[in-house]
Amino acid sequence: MKGLFLTLEGIDGAGKSSHIDALEALFKARGRQVTRTREPGGTPIAETLRTMVLAQPMDALTESLLVFAARRDHLVQVIEPALARGDVVLCDRFTDATFAYQGGGRGFDTALLSTLEQWVQGQAGGALLQPDITLWFDLPPELAAERLAGARLPDKFESQPVEFFRRVAAGYAQRAATAPRFVRIDASQSRDQVWQQIEAALAGRGL
Ligand code: TMP
Repeated sequence: MKGLFLTLEGIDGAGKSSHIDALEALFKARGRQVTRTREPGGTPIAETLRTMVLAQPMDALTESLLVFAARRDHLVQVIEPALARGDVVLCDRFTDATFAYQGGGRGFDTALLSTLEQWVQGQAGGALLQPDITLWFDLPPELAAERLAGARLPDKFESQPVEFFRRVAAGYAQRAATAPRFVRIDASQSRDQVWQQIEAALAGRGL
């Protein structure tokens, strides 16, 4: 069976993580093996890098290099082997988050991010390993901030002002416009309605 690489994206507070359990259950009910993971993270090295990136201030190039280093380890150790086995890989964030947060939010050079993406995700023959489908949870930053307020101790990104998330959201929108693998989910709807959108998106792609 062919592996399937599915990613979930969106600004902090958009509610993507609360649907991963249901996605895992859905694919398992169809007899698929599921590898569930996240970025930055998913391996011991990448989780160590995650702690650094989320806790410490650093310049945008350092941050970009660390998230791509974490991604490289994660791809080699977890994602590529899982796809080769035929698993469904459910990954909470991937490279689109780098374009949105470092590129959009922090205003870092997206051409340089594209070069790093090529280094890290480049395959034999020059193609890039990319998700098969990306569920993009789109929510106005003001609403996301309301949802996040008081939820838990915010990390480095979650404590950014709403203007930062406006830029992150614009980064996602720009990236989504370039790739048909993106499915926009209206995350302002109720949890049940969001789940219905996810089911419809999968069905619409024969999944
Ligand atoms: P999470 O809270 O959804 O697990 O995501 C961790 C945070 O890391 C989130 O605020 C987005 C940020 N992030 C980046 O800045 N760049 C990246 O490449 C990734 C994957 C996440």
